[in-house]
Order: sequence, then C-alpha cells, then structure tokens
Amino acid sequence: SGIRTFTMLKPDAVEKGHVGAILEQIASAGFRIVAMKLTQMTQTDAETFYAVHKERPFFGELVEYMTRGPIVAAILEKENAVEDFRTLIGATNPEDAAEGTIRKLYAASIGENAVHGSDSDENAQIEGAFHFAGREMF
Ligand code: CMP
Repeated sequence: SGIRTFTMLKPDAVEKGHVGAILEQIASAGFRIVAMKLTQMTQTDAETFYAVHKERPFFGELVEYMTRGPIVAAILEKENAVEDFRTLIGATNPEDAAEGTIRKLYAASIGENAVHGSDSDENAQIEGAFHFAGREMF
C-alpha cells in the first residue's frame, strides 16, 4: 500500500485517557504525523463519513458513538502505511485482535473499538481530506 493512512482515536479512547499511550505506540511503530487535531464530529459528519455502513443494523449506534465526544483525527505517514497500521490496531472485534495490538489493549467491544484505520489507499486519501485542509498537512 501507499505512504499515508488516516486514523481517529475514537470517543471511548479519549474519554478513558488513552490518547497519550496510543500515540506513543503509533510513533514507536514508525509512523510520522502529517496532520493531527482534537475535534468532534457532528451527526452529519458521522453519517457522511460512515455512509458505506448506512444500511447496517448498527449504523445509528455507530453515529451516536462517534459523535458523543471529541476524537483525535490524524494523517500518518510510513512505507506500507494502510496495511501496517491495520496490523498495529488489530481486528475490528477486540476479542479477535492479536496480543499487543491497540484494540486488544484499549477497545471494549466491536462497536466501541478505540481506533479507526483506513482500509485502502483510496479511502485514506478521502478520509484525510474529509477532516483536514491542505494547509493542515505537513
Ligand atoms: P471501523 O471498522 O473503524 O469502522 C466501522 C465501525 O462500525 C467499526 O469500526 C465499529 O466501530 C462499528 N462496527 C462494526 N461492526 C459492528 C457491529 N457488529 N456492531 C456495532 N458496531 C460495529
């Protein structure tokens, strides 16, 4: 995959005070921060960002969760960024996540799973541009 991915440290991770530890783990894995901010998604933001899931039974719950408090949004750079970041965060369901992964360490459930990672180079670009203006990327 390409050199950039997009991540969000989700409301549960921020509420529980895990931002510092998760950023440390991301930096230690060799990712450079291209863009980063604390922000809160509106209902419209979350419905747009997760539009691909709008027919799923958990869509309403997902939008409510992702809008309930601030998130840390970031664009990260590393060789093979998308794939390596998904390895670092672990499976969507923390019960299936490998030992030492961010979700294994910090996620409570499949719904409240602490962190987002883009699933393709194309989505990394779309998701990064959704949250950041060009002048916010370094
Ligand atoms: P993520 O893979 O980052 O993006 C889609 C999100 O939907 C996922 O993280 C979870 O937060 C949520 N999600 C996926 N599957 C379920 C599920 N079965 N029940 C509740 N939430 C889910």
